[in-house]
Amino acid sequence: MATANKSDKDRVIIFDTTLRDGEQCPGATMTFEEKLEVAELLDDMGVDVIEAGFPITSQGDFEAVSEIARRSKNAVIAGLSRAHPADIDRCAEAVKFAKRGRVHTVIATSPLHMRVKLNKTPEEVLETSVAMVARARNQIDDVEWSAEDGTRSEMDYLCRIVEAVIKAGATTVNIPDTVGYTVPEEYTHFMKTLIERVPNSDKAVFSVHCHNDLGMAVANSLAGVVGGARQVECTINGIGERAGNAALEEIVMAINVRNDKFPYWNKIDTTQLTRASKVVSAATSFPVQYNKAIVGRNAFAHESGIHQDGVLKDASTYEIMRPEMVGLKQSSLVLGKHSGRHAFVHKLEEMGYKLGPNQLEDAFTRMKALADRKKDIYDEDIEALVDEEMAASHD
Ligand code: KIV
Ligand code: ZN
Repeated sequence: MATANKSDKDRVIIFDTTLRDGEQCPGATMTFEEKLEVAELLDDMGVDVIEAGFPITSQGDFEAVSEIARRSKNAVIAGLSRAHPADIDRCAEAVKFAKRGRVHTVIATSPLHMRVKLNKTPEEVLETSVAMVARARNQIDDVEWSAEDGTRSEMDYLCRIVEAVIKAGATTVNIPDTVGYTVPEEYTHFMKTLIERVPNSDKAVFSVHCHNDLGMAVANSLAGVVGGARQVECTINGIGERAGNAALEEIVMAINVRNDKFPYWNKIDTTQLTRASKVVSAATSFPVQYNKAIVGRNAFAHESGIHQDGVLKDASTYEIMRPEMVGLKQSSLVLGKHSGRHAFVHKLEEMGYKLGPNQLEDAFTRMKALADRKKDIYDEDIEALVDEEMAASHD
């Protein structure tokens, strides 16, 4: 939990869409029970808003959103809806069981999407948005409006439509980088300009929702916050459409570790991040890449001798955050062909072995030779090496 200066204006609302945008990526479908498990975990770890699904899409999604809403403890439970009356009503019906429910309605605002996809004029999109936000507000107090393909929309038009939806009752205004096209500096400027130019911008929370098509979703999300957004939409492990969404664990830890640059705070219990990653990976059957920031299995692992020696002397030489902060017991020193004596001795001590100098030298040479033949050195390999050494007994 980053808490440098806990004033409301610096609070970043964490909106998790693992169960909606995350589940939308091919192959990530979750069962009803899996969704409940993920939602419970997100609620427990302090996620502010859980987007639980897209209720109009299927009876199953409706039921999952309703049940998550019923069981929610602290989080706001949101459902997605297109800007259609039936979508809005179905969504409001599903989230009404929550202590605090939200209808999230989306419509495209870029010239390309309005012309090709919606076949609507900008004026028609504006009128529809106002009507749908008002319709949602008649049923619920918390309404989010999203400008799909927001970052490829025209600023003058966006200012007009955002002003209108806020007047109609939108309490959150989300400007997604739907296709992962923007770059950090541009997005900061974009959000800042929008917020400055919309006369009633203080009546709503501005939100960012970034996709990772160019690998910049996290950097762009943080840049959007610098530009004035105070809600970040993200997913566990960064799963989501195409290359995914901004990863929750990366956003939260970046704010935490670099609070000097991002002086904001959020309510996430970071010690649950590793567990959340594992639960979502198991539920979706999506493996987490080994080198994934924060939660990949190599994120706190060191194999090279120089790094292992540094970490054994002082972990901060090669670790910018402690593994305990993300729910790991400790970092791991993996023995391999790049490892040095310091880590080898440390490993032997951990395993309860004490070798004499000659035995140690011999065992170390043989460990290196083994590592050249075999990718991973396990505890059993070390045991075998030590047993052989003891039997030969040079000391
Ligand atoms: O990427 C996007 O634009 C979305 C909206 C529904 C918010 O997922
Ligand atoms: Zn999205």
